[in-house]
Amino acid sequence: MEKKKVIIDCDPGIDDSLALLLALKSEELEVIGITIVCGNVPVDLGVENALKALEIADALHVPVYLGENKPLKRELVTAQDTHGEDGVGECFFGKIKDGNVRDGAVDFIVDTLKNNKDISIIALGPLTNIAKAIMTDKEAFNNLSEFVSMGGAFRIHGNCSPVAEFNYWVDPHGADYVFKNLNKKIHMVGLDVTRKIVLTPNIIELIKRFNDNVSKYIVDITRFYVDFHWNQEGIIGCVINDPLAVAYFIDRSICSGFSSYTEIVHDGIAMGQSIVDKEKFYGKEDNSYILTEVDEKKFMLMFLEKLFKDKKNILKAVKEVI
Ligand code: BDR
Ligand code: CA
Repeated sequence: MEKKKVIIDCDPGIDDSLALLLALKSEELEVIGITIVCGNVPVDLGVENALKALEIADALHVPVYLGENKPLKRELVTAQDTHGEDGVGECFFGKIKDGNVRDGAVDFIVDTLKNNKDISIIALGPLTNIAKAIMTDKEAFNNLSEFVSMGGAFRIHGNCSPVAEFNYWVDPHGADYVFKNLNKKIHMVGLDVTRKIVLTPNIIELIKRFNDNVSKYIVDITRFYVDFHWNQEGIIGCVINDPLAVAYFIDRSICSGFSSYTEIVHDGIAMGQSIVDKEKFYGKEDNSYILTEVDEKKFMLMFLEKLFKDKKNILKAVKEVI
């Protein structure tokens, strides 16, 4: 099978870490680099957390690139209330020394696209690195194969304001720039679909039974996230947004939606809102594919099967739990 080559741009983050595990454990993908952007946590902490996910996935050889440390115009507002002071549920894992960390996320993205025609990007954080890369060399993006972005909200309320989702709200200028300048359809995996992806207590209990380093890591990093969801949203369990973008990239039948022209509001009360022109009022060419439906069971099955391939016996129990 020919693997799809991807760069994962992310701000780990609890759900980013789970998305990295899913990508690294999926034989359909070749993760050629991980670029870190500030968002959930400052960028250097994001690098540490990416390394931890790589260690758990046995993939420390994958290069991790340090990216932008502030949004294009706004001050950085992190989500350490949601993800913990360390960004991974206050587990405070020690430093990992033998990772492959490099400077220059933006240059890596640009150079890779310039020299290859089969690279896709899955963006799981604010779009600052991507905006900067387009500003550096717009033409290189003609070679981009596909672009998936976890972000935005179409018909559902936001998670930072009544209308704004975190990734686009943290760097609304970056997001707006990317939607206007990428010249490729952005697959927008927004809150309309990701809110349906919940690690319930039943699923977490099942994951515990797999009893290996991956399962322990997931149970540990999600504990804080579960408490946050209960206190903040009255949800038992936790919403894991980012892995859905990876799963959708692997298997398009997990989500469906429609093509549209979309812009991101960058100022004022609606800052960060994704304005999706489904009815074509503006008459502008579609620049996005907006996901609105998701088969959450299919996602969960894929997530567990890929992360715990060798646990055939326990996997039999999965269908009853999800
Ligand atoms: C997004 O915001 C972050 O906190 C998550 O990692 C995800 O990418 C959801 O709004
Ligand atoms: Ca993220």
